[in-house]
Amino acid sequence: MTSHHKLTSVKVLRRQARQHIERGAVTEGYSADRPQVLKMLNEALATEIVCVLRYRLHHFMARGIHSQTVGAEFLVHSNEEQGHADQLAARIVQLGGEPDFSPDSLSERSHAEYVPAKTLPEMIRENLVAERIAIDSYRDMVRVLEDKDPTTSDLLRQILAVEEEHADELADLLEGMPADKD
Ligand SMILES: [Fe+2]
Ligand SMILES: [Fe+2]
Repeated sequence: MTSHHKLTSVKVLRRQARQHIERGAVTEGYSADRPQVLKMLNEALATEIVCVLRYRLHHFMARGIHSQTVGAEFLVHSNEEQGHADQLAARIVQLGGEPDFSPDSLSERSHAEYVPAKTLPEMIRENLVAERIAIDSYRDMVRVLEDKDPTTSDLLRQILAVEEEHADELADLLEGMPADKD
C-alpha cells in the first residue's frame, strides 16, 4: 500500500462507533462540514423540484408537429428529476438533516429557473439552460465533497451523469427544430 493514511485501530473504531449512536450514519470519521453539506444538498433538492415542475409544465403545454415526441421526452426527464429529488432527500435524512420541501422559498433556493416558454424550441432551450446550470453546480459539489464525503460525492456524480445525458438529448432535439418555430 502506498497510502500515507494510517488506519484507525480496531479498538478506537469500536469505541467511536459506540459514541453518539443516535447520529446513525454520521460517525466520528465524518470530516465534511455537515451544515454546509446539508445546505448544498437542499439547494440541489430545490433545483430538482423546480426542474420537475418546469418539465411537467412543458410536457402539458407542448404544441406543434413535434410536440408528441418532444413532450414525451419532457415527461421522462421530469420523472427522472423527481427520482433525483428523492435520492437527495434520502441522503439529507441520512446525514441527520431535514429535506426542505417548502414551496414558498423553492425558486429562491433553486439554481435553475422556472421559465414557462411559449414555443417548443423555446422550451427545449430553457430546459437545456437549466440542465447546464445543474451540470456545473453538481460538478462543483462533487469536487468539494470528493475526499470528505465520498458517498454524497458519488451520489452527486451519478446524478450529474444523468443531467449530462439530458443536456445531450435536448441539444439533439434543438438541432432538429426550425429556429423559433414550433
Ligand atoms: Fe436531475
Ligand atoms: Fe436533468
